[in-house]
Amino acid sequence: MKGVILAGGTGSRLYPLTRLMNKHLLPVGKYPMVCYGIDRLRRCGITDILLVISKQSAGLYMDFLGSGASFGVTLTYKIQEAAGGIAEALELAKGFVPSGERFLVLLGDNLFLDDLTPYVDSYLRQPAGTAKVLLKPVNDARRYGVPVFDSQNSAWIAYIEEKPQHPKTGYCVTGIYMYDEAVFDIIRRVSPSNRGELEITDVNNIYAADRKLSYDILKEWWSDAGTFQSLREAGEKLRDALP
Ligand code: DAU
Repeated sequence: MKGVILAGGTGSRLYPLTRLMNKHLLPVGKYPMVCYGIDRLRRCGITDILLVISKQSAGLYMDFLGSGASFGVTLTYKIQEAAGGIAEALELAKGFVPSGERFLVLLGDNLFLDDLTPYVDSYLRQPAGTAKVLLKPVNDARRYGVPVFDSQNSAWIAYIEEKPQHPKTGYCVTGIYMYDEAVFDIIRRVSPSNRGELEITDVNNIYAADRKLSYDILKEWWSDAGTFQSLREAGEKLRDALP
């Protein structure tokens, strides 16, 4: 199984810090944010990793991470020219993932403590052409993609609402996704949203409409470090998470 970390985007909620450098290089504890995703992938045996980055700070990524060898992984880099959405960034993984192989996608600002191994194992038992997302109960689901479960078979998600005013469940769809090559055809069926981005939620909703989107629920701490408050909290929580 291969890994893909999406670390493009503009990080606008973290201005002016992100005028200096890309969000995923900002310090969290002793390391840049992106290192925690790399560590989570490596710990579940995924060592061949594609990093999708923006042009901003591209050289800094190489300076710090290099080939990935000192982190026990092999890194490949791709540049997303402009922040055209999570699904657009994901499309850049086509060609990195060989036909027939499955892969795990992390949003680079998603920080968490769960071991991903059991979730990966359960996804590998799913039929080809299906996908899996990981959920987390949250206090204010309005900031996230929010799943609604299939009333006939609660193993599947019926649909996801992106940042709803009135969330139907108290869960967030985290930025931890599992796909196979079928996702690249699905991305081609998606059109830009009102904010001009290819949305990952639109991709996942195509799976959900066919009852092909399963889920598991994270047990440990999870956060997306996209705001100053969550960045500070993550720094405290993960202070000693890496040696
Ligand atoms: O964190 C979980 C949430 O992430 C989900 O609940 C939402 O369904 C999902 O849409 C996403 O929402 P955000 O509004 O938090 O996404 P954001 O635009 O902040 O992007 C999250 C990461 O995705 C970011 O760290 C880098 C990557 N990204 C984003 C964009 C827009 C890219 O690599 N390229 C992009 O063009």
